Amino acid sequence: MIKHFLSLSSLTASDISTLIDRAQFFFLNQHLPDKTKHLLKNKIVANVFYEPSTRTRCSFEIAAKRLGADVVNFVPENSSVKKGETIYDTLKTLESLGVNGIVLRHADDHVFDGLQKIKIPLLNAGAGKFEHPTQGLLDLLTLHQEFNKLQGLRIAVCGDIKHSRVVGSLMVAAEKFDMKIFYCGPNALLPSNVKQTSIDEILGEVDAVMMLRIQLERHEGLELNPQTYNDQYGLNTKRVGLLQKHAIILHPGPFNRGVEISDEVVEHPQSRIFKQMANGVFARMAILEKVIS
Ligand code: CP
Repeated sequence: MIKHFLSLSSLTASDISTLIDRAQFFFLNQHLPDKTKHLLKNKIVANVFYEPSTRTRCSFEIAAKRLGADVVNFVPENSSVKKGETIYDTLKTLESLGVNGIVLRHADDHVFDGLQKIKIPLLNAGAGKFEHPTQGLLDLLTLHQEFNKLQGLRIAVCGDIKHSRVVGSLMVAAEKFDMKIFYCGPNALLPSNVKQTSIDEILGEVDAVMMLRIQLERHEGLELNPQTYNDQYGLNTKRVGLLQKHAIILHPGPFNRGVEISDEVVEHPQSRIFKQMANGVFARMAILEKVIS
């Protein structure tokens, strides 16, 4: 029984495969609400986002509602956080009000370390540069739908890897499923423990390429010329031409068109970017059911 959902590292490959199978069930039954709307009936899920979000927050809300739960959307900017209330006291308050699970996003990599006395399940919706495990699961679901396996897949990731919690979760999954990850992008944006690979040399050898946004909110004084970056590292039409025909394009979003990905590539036939977003609902349904029911 999982209490919290904070990292993919605490799950086995078999646990992850079970979640993917359940997410696929929700995908296949998305037009049959009677099959799912009782699963979290009478439960309350709170979305607590200390950092901005579109995909994660909205898909968690939709996922909870499709399972029949009620949703509280807590907005720090309009709350007693403004009077100095701590995260712990905010979550303890929600727990005492009857909330059954809290979806938390925060800029601090270690935010969950100080929340051990919270008794209700906590779900990591993105913690600093640490992990974004629900994004990890939806990425795995998307890859599994495409290739009917995860074992042995070869994936290039390109961009701001140093600040990416999405890659944090992908790296954990890669070890469990024996996937090979290639790291591309400017040296200054790669962690010291990974080997830099040329995007132009690797694109023809991978099953998927995941492009990443430059996380300007986590940089100080970074000067970025969008056109130069696009020329050197961006996924443009010319580089898409290097991909094998079966290879797919991923991006966790939000994307900056014309920087790490060209406008015409976002909805290219090999792009699965909007499929990833749609899968966010099904992956999060599987996680909410597992952790809260
Ligand atoms: N991928 C992702 O986490 O997007 P949001 O920041 O919009 O939630």
